[in-house]
Amino acid sequence: MPDLGSVTWPPPPIKTERLLLREPEARDRGALIELLASPEVGAFLGGPQPRDELERAIPEEPRRRSGLFVVDLDGAMIGQVTLTKDTGHLRQAAGRAELGYLFLPQAWGYGYAAEACEAALGWFAGALPGEPVVLATQTANVRSMRLAAKLGFTEAERFEEWGAEQWMGVRPPG
Ligand SMILES: CC(C)(COP(=O)(O)OP(=O)(O)OC[C@H]1O[C@@H](n2cnc3c(N)ncnc32)[C@H](O)[C@@H]1OP(=O)(O)O)[C@@H](O)C(=O)NCCC(=O)NCCS
Repeated sequence: MPDLGSVTWPPPPIKTERLLLREPEARDRGALIELLASPEVGAFLGGPQPRDELERAIPEEPRRRSGLFVVDLDGAMIGQVTLTKDTGHLRQAAGRAELGYLFLPQAWGYGYAAEACEAALGWFAGALPGEPVVLATQTANVRSMRLAAKLGFTEAERFEEWGAEQWMGVRPPG
């Protein structure tokens, strides 16, 4: 997945009130497999991935790339936030910085995703000033739609893709 290009990576770990945003580490492997194998997490993302395939595919030493933050609560990974460019999965996002978020279901409902995304967006605004950020999510993904609104994304367009209505939001540079 293409990264953020000229950005210096990694930044020092980012501390928020309750969380730490940091690079992936070997000890996150179990949580990463939980995340990608979770039916709840995958519900609006094309479904969960088979656990045995993940066990085979995910290396012991994590792959690191710019724009990928592990979200750590009290020393354990609870999710990840990504800021990537031109992921190619959506024509509408091509070439633009795109926010993504995935959290373990047991970490939903505490405001952790909002807290982590705010911090990542704050870092991004300093690293690439003046750049807008886009976000794509299914309109049926109510939690994600609520989070996008809370983060200041407003609707740019709606379109059908993968058999579902998708929502593209834009957050102007702060
Ligand atoms: C999308 C997703 C990150 C949202 O997680 P979330 O926990 O609902 O989001 P937030 O961090 O904004 O938390 C909001 C909830 O925390 C509650 N909350 C509790 N304590 C809080 C606090 N101190 N501060 C803020 N909110 C708090 C809010 O009231 C709200 O609760 P509600 O859902 O009952 O209304 C999560 O559902 C997820 O990982 N889904 C799977 C992946 C996915 O679909 N990603 C989208 C594709 S990009």
